[in-house]
Amino acid sequence: MAQKVILDVDTGCDDAVAMLMAGHHPALEFVAVLPVHGNVHLEVTLENTLKLLSAGKLEHVPVYVGANAPLIGPIIAGDGDQIIRLPFPESSIQPQEHHAVNFLIDYYMSGEGKDTIYMPIGPLTNLALALRIEPKLAKRIPKIVTMGGAYIEGNTTPSAEFNILADPEAAHIVYSSGIPITMIGLEVTDKAEIRKNDVKRIREIRTPWADAAAEIIDIIIDIHLKYPGRTGGIVYDACAVAAVIDPTVFQAKPMHIDIEINGTYTRGRTVADIRDRKKLPKNVEVGTSIDREKFLDILYESLR
Ligand code: RIB
Ligand code: CA
Repeated sequence: MAQKVILDVDTGCDDAVAMLMAGHHPALEFVAVLPVHGNVHLEVTLENTLKLLSAGKLEHVPVYVGANAPLIGPIIAGDGDQIIRLPFPESSIQPQEHHAVNFLIDYYMSGEGKDTIYMPIGPLTNLALALRIEPKLAKRIPKIVTMGGAYIEGNTTPSAEFNILADPEAAHIVYSSGIPITMIGLEVTDKAEIRKNDVKRIREIRTPWADAAAEIIDIIIDIHLKYPGRTGGIVYDACAVAAVIDPTVFQAKPMHIDIEINGTYTRGRTVADIRDRKKLPKNVEVGTSIDREKFLDILYESLR
């Protein structure tokens, strides 16, 4: 039976590739998508999500619009790289009337979601709001697999990864909720570079969704090649989807993680007790590495 997933997205080029994988890999059933603020303002993450679903032949996936701002902190837009409108035609898909937060509560509290993995690949605002409205939700979500965080070094500040910094209070609520979390952070995604040659192979697949993915990954590579030391692009959110499709693609270590919400220089850090100094409950399965070749195989397989 296919593994059901809900994606909470701030589309975003890499979110777009993640959605194509979730929608087309036979091992997954893409239950719903929840656009939230993040890489860009909500109007654009929504517009991009709808365009992608049409271009990727995923019009059947219901869209529930989520939060347009973090719980407390300011909206932080991406670093310029992610401020992008996807290069696809406008979509005629209409989002659902229900708000993403209400959808999450209804879906999981009804028991329908007992086997559905919740995959936030943007800021964690939607789930944090849902948990505040319905605390029992924490016992109803079987598992979270998320792209976010970093236990060594951030990408938006030296301490913080973007998705966590974009709403640290929300991340604090989610990471302390007791829901089992697998964190695919920067230590994993940095090892999954996609290069121009790999895109050539994606183009050879010749499905509309492979073509869409190739176009997006080309944009990501062109941006990331400008960074010193990079030989390809990082398609962050795709790594989290690959980790659900085939958990043997990545290595992980259980750790206790707290979210820094106060630090002047460290706000948004996923503070990981790497050596278990404090002997606190290990609330997160933290990704430490990924097999790049296997990741690419999963990507190709998704796009076929
Ligand atoms: O830090 C990378 C993450 O931030 C990705 O999810 C990207 O889409 C942005 O949301
Ligand atoms: Ca994202």
